[in-house]
Amino acid sequence: MTAGEQGPRLPADFRFGTATSAYQIEGAVADDGRGPSVWDTFCAEPGRIADGSSGAVACDHYHRVDEDVALLADLGAGGYRFSISWPRVQPTGSGAVNAAGLDFYDRLVDKLLAIGVQPMVTLFHWDLPQALEDDGGWLNRATVERFADYAAIVGARLADRVEHWIPVNEPSVVTTLGYATGLHAPGKTLMFDAMPAAHHLLLGHGRAAIALRAAGAPSVGCANNHAPIWPASDDDADVGASKLFDAVWNGMFIEPMLLGRYPRDLEPLLEDVVDDGDMATIRQPLDFYGVNYYTPFRIGAAAEDAPMPFEFRPVMGYPTTDLNWSVVPDALREWLIMFRARLRAAVPPIYVTESGCAYNQGPDDAGVVDDQARIDYHSAHLTAVAEALRMGVDVRGYYAWSLLDNFEWADGLVPRFGLVHVDYETQQRTKKRSFQWYADLVAATKASN
Ligand code: NOJ
Repeated sequence: MTAGEQGPRLPADFRFGTATSAYQIEGAVADDGRGPSVWDTFCAEPGRIADGSSGAVACDHYHRVDEDVALLADLGAGGYRFSISWPRVQPTGSGAVNAAGLDFYDRLVDKLLAIGVQPMVTLFHWDLPQALEDDGGWLNRATVERFADYAAIVGARLADRVEHWIPVNEPSVVTTLGYATGLHAPGKTLMFDAMPAAHHLLLGHGRAAIALRAAGAPSVGCANNHAPIWPASDDDADVGASKLFDAVWNGMFIEPMLLGRYPRDLEPLLEDVVDDGDMATIRQPLDFYGVNYYTPFRIGAAAEDAPMPFEFRPVMGYPTTDLNWSVVPDALREWLIMFRARLRAAVPPIYVTESGCAYNQGPDDAGVVDDQARIDYHSAHLTAVAEALRMGVDVRGYYAWSLLDNFEWADGLVPRFGLVHVDYETQQRTKKRSFQWYADLVAATKASN
């Protein structure tokens, strides 16, 4: 039986893809004039990355791009989402363009189009030029101007060939892990004082969207990390904490982008940073709304003296990945349906711009990576998408995270999300069983209906 007969049933024109990001796969951090990013700095600080690794080499994609494009050709999925490294294009985040850096992406786009794969480009997937962080990074409103300039540069070069554009990947994660709790670069622990970073990332989204459209970009969206937030119990305190976390995680990014306002509960925390006209700038018409989905969160009230009023509690009763994230495909369906129900006409067509799972096994003695759990994960999440579609939610595509095993930020090189296994010693790529399963599903879906 083929995957298509058994697996999720999606429309023939549904866009399947895979996703990666620059710092997680490229390596070559000092090649061809690339400047340092906050992640180079962060990884060099002892204790920041679980296994002491970094993205300095990662999958060496910068040198092996042809091999990786050949993998995409074999996969046959019509979409590939990648990010552009800002410090390759502008080594200090402003001023003159580093031609060699921009050329790399120009060639990548041509290679993808030549094999019939539509690129989806993210401008900022967390690798902020270090020179901008030295001036305050996303806490500094001036970074928004720099980002708009950078968006105009990349748009001028690639918008004639790239259809889908995402200015900022997961501003919620940059704010919370980068500036509030310090688990990600730049490692700041500002707790609620990190709010200005969220506002500036949102403004950056708006300003970049304007710049991209001016450069002729046909389709501009976003890629926000979302999940249902479940209260740990029926207790008022837990319900209140989960509502507040829902506002911080989901509402803080949905509402400005689609409605031009912050969730009421958060407004007081942002009043000093919001200038006249900002909310209109953030609320650019979006051609699509990208959802990165992994797992739901269960939130309870934290102790009185805790730094934050909410805390994560385990989501029990579901299988977990090797990162201990609960696998709950129904939560993706729930989220999509609730999003559509709450925001109604404000919701543009949706793409699942990321979903995936870390299962870390490598090749067996026969050289096979038998990752049935990953097949089950993607099959179930695509089925959830198909169900949401049947309930009237306009979901146009699904980008599996990730094409390759890669550098998983603070968790280093241990978690493996790829459809392709990467041996970091030899850089040998091995297609996992999930790769063939996905390729079969793509082919069967195309041939269906
Ligand atoms: C979302 C991020 O965009 C991506 O960089 C990361 O690797 C995955 N989540 C998995 O954590």
